[in-house]
Amino acid sequence: MSIISKDIAKAVALLNNNELVAIPTETVYGLAGNIYSETAIKAIFNTKQRPLFNPLIVHIPNIEYLENVVSYIPEKARLLAEQFWPGPLTMVLPKKDVIPDIITAGKDTVAVRIPNHPVTLELLKTLDFPLAAPSANPFNRISPTTAQHVEAYFKNNIKMVLDGGSCRKGIESTIVGFENNEPIIYRLGSLTLEDIEAIVGSVSVKNKKEQNPNAPGMLLKHYAPRTKTILSNDISQDIKNHKGKRIGVLSFKSKIKSDAISSLTILSKTGDVNEAASNLYYSLHQLDSLHLDIIIAEILPDIGLGKSVNDRLQRATSLK
Ligand code: TXA
Ligand code: MG
Repeated sequence: MSIISKDIAKAVALLNNNELVAIPTETVYGLAGNIYSETAIKAIFNTKQRPLFNPLIVHIPNIEYLENVVSYIPEKARLLAEQFWPGPLTMVLPKKDVIPDIITAGKDTVAVRIPNHPVTLELLKTLDFPLAAPSANPFNRISPTTAQHVEAYFKNNIKMVLDGGSCRKGIESTIVGFENNEPIIYRLGSLTLEDIEAIVGSVSVKNKKEQNPNAPGMLLKHYAPRTKTILSNDISQDIKNHKGKRIGVLSFKSKIKSDAISSLTILSKTGDVNEAASNLYYSLHQLDSLHLDIIIAEILPDIGLGKSVNDRLQRATSLK
């Protein structure tokens, strides 16, 4: 029997009972549990096989709720919250004592966001507690953008996926931390650098582990298909280089004619980086299910969400 359901009341009952429920957001599906339930939070780490040093994002119902979980809000954080919440922005701020250490991996900051999905907003408004929710995939695998992706990963581990359709954005939230009250991007994501800078001025990006050892979880290899995947500037050349193999191609916008390709996926026929971002994980899930020898993924223009897609492709193709 399928674990996919639209029944919000059932999700509420399970979450009240220390169980996990996968929830839809505009970015990717999350594996959610009550932040105050040790049983639920341990189950999140176990189910995902996620190391305990990697902290979780706390999902809250509205801006007013922020003061219940963080002890200090810099002016620029307030501006960003007012502009982009609900939405694909996560902010890392000093935590209040009520936030359990297991959520933050012992750090004195907590990552918070208000997701922009009607089903999950209704769920959060009904519950008496916020939800911790990492992406609903096993550690290092591709994040899920449909209820069916989550079911395929976790049908034997959890009781319910709350169905909210396909995720509109399709890439995780952008994570912003603060140093001396100035915003710093820890993870590129569904909110663009350009959109953030339009509100708070110039922002630095410390998106790589070596730039920011304080952002655990920024592992080089991440979001990876099981099929060997390489990043390409020149698809035709890379197809020649892998002659004789079963090749899948993830093209940005062009139709590529070659008998050597077993499967071709185009992320956006009109060359729209936003559309490409929203199709990325879905396409990687599809290609990964075909048992190919190699996936050749084309690098996108380095603007707007193209930057975030390139970041994910680099992690998907990294060897370590
Ligand atoms: O779009 C999203 O953000 C999705 C949906 C479900 O909301 N969630 C998500 O969670 O991507 P997860 O756990 O896959 O990624 C959370 C990232 C990790 O890289 C973690 O290290 C970082 O947030 N993080 C969490 N708390 C932090 C903190 N206090 N300081 C620095 N980084 C933190
Ligand atoms: Mg994740």
